[in-house]
Amino acid sequence: MEIPVKEPERQYYFIEKTKEKVARIAEQLGRPLTFCVQTFGCQMNARDSEKLSGILREIGYEEQEDEHADFVIYNTCTVRENANLRVYGRLGYLHNLKKKNPHMMIALCGCMMQEAHVVEKLKKSYRFVDLIFGTHNIYKFAELLATRFETGEMVIDIWKDTDQIVENLPNDRKYPFKSGVNIMFGCNNFCSYCIVPYVRGRERSRNPEQIVEEIKRLVADGVVEVMLLGQNVNSYGKNLEHPITFAQLLMQIEQIEGLERIRFMTSHPKDLSDELIEVMAKSRKICPHLHLPVQSGSTKILKDMNRRYTKEQYLQLVKKIRKAVPDISLTTDIIVGFPGETEEDFQETLSLVEEVQYDSAFTFIYSKRSGTPAAAMENQVPEEVVKERFDRLLAKVQEIARRTCARFEGRTQEALAEEYNEENHLVTGRLGNNLLVHFPGEAGMIGHMIPVYLEECKGFYYLGRKAE
Ligand code: SAH
Ligand code: SF4
Ligand code: F3S
Repeated sequence: MEIPVKEPERQYYFIEKTKEKVARIAEQLGRPLTFCVQTFGCQMNARDSEKLSGILREIGYEEQEDEHADFVIYNTCTVRENANLRVYGRLGYLHNLKKKNPHMMIALCGCMMQEAHVVEKLKKSYRFVDLIFGTHNIYKFAELLATRFETGEMVIDIWKDTDQIVENLPNDRKYPFKSGVNIMFGCNNFCSYCIVPYVRGRERSRNPEQIVEEIKRLVADGVVEVMLLGQNVNSYGKNLEHPITFAQLLMQIEQIEGLERIRFMTSHPKDLSDELIEVMAKSRKICPHLHLPVQSGSTKILKDMNRRYTKEQYLQLVKKIRKAVPDISLTTDIIVGFPGETEEDFQETLSLVEEVQYDSAFTFIYSKRSGTPAAAMENQVPEEVVKERFDRLLAKVQEIARRTCARFEGRTQEALAEEYNEENHLVTGRLGNNLLVHFPGEAGMIGHMIPVYLEECKGFYYLGRKAE
């Protein structure tokens, strides 16, 4: 058979080819081969990992909880330096495992691999790695794996960028009842601290037809909740041949019968439209939760971050959203210690947090990423100063969150039952605002929407009981 040129047919060809090889090794060993995919980083990476698992399963590998597997993939993140360090740390451990298992293969992929200095270092000092690929050619995984089996040598394939989106490859899901769905890839915003646009490439949106088709297939397979994924979902569809807005896409998804809940992330404040707020207010399926990263409360810092909104504009936006969707839960990301941040700038952040009353906030210490404009800025803030500000911010965020999270006590809300604990017979459900509730129930509830009376808030989760 000739090797197909078109995708995804080409990858299915390599899946078949590798399947035979894997079956032969399994026969020799008298046991199935196993795989383990470890994800670092964000939900985009988590979704990519499901695609890799899907392919490995198709090839004949069976999933294994930990790294004592025949095929281990680290899907890496490089958004902050500590994400990077964790990977190097774990590679030493993998090397030891590999010495004991001659059949073991190690693959590295994801955002870190898009940095030339990382690949250089791996080539030089981590020769035991079998396969290295990046974010743009992840769909070629089966083909790269086939090459590795054929040549027996380290395979490195990194692309600078791509305009391609390959549809209809296999993928796995971590949960039977909910799933992430990519709606776009890449980012064009170039916030001055952020490495994502460099490692994920330019913004590309999937066609709405293909997104809707995928969700319909997922729903037919038992999914009731989807999380639409993109670095800036609010700019979805702008570059399509027939442009549509994110709000219009949401309206199409809302029509899908059997789908109960729609979530999305992330929303960039500068692109959040009135149309989207209107659609959220009217929708029966979009969850009353918005993750709206602010990054800083200082207009001066926001300008240096290239976020393209002011503190006032952000607060105005929050007001507008709260007016349209009164019960909405707002969450955010904040960076502390961006170059040039003064105590006054930091006070602006604290006052913004106080004013918005977030349900929760992810707080990060600024991390210098090489190649970004902020890394070259001169006035980097000393580490002790940043650490001290970070602690103050965290205390404030937590104090507010404890209060805001409790505001639904005494109400009945729908929860998606996600887990059942045999020991105490408690079901863990997720509320629309993303908080968890534990209530007495049974295993059969999993994957269903259950009305739950919220008796008591225990800080960041609720105790409740099934409502009639
Ligand atoms: N596209 C999303 C964010 C993706 S990265 C958005 O624009 O909101 C997730 C979060 O990591 C960011 O919101 C930011 O708070 C944080 N982050 C990104 N780069 C960082 C850096 N260099 N140092 C510290 N935190 C960073
Ligand atoms: Fe990074 Fe900004 Fe793009 Fe988010 S919008 S991924 S913070 S550059
Ligand atoms: Fe990290 Fe890449 Fe996501 S750098 S945060 S895994 S897009």
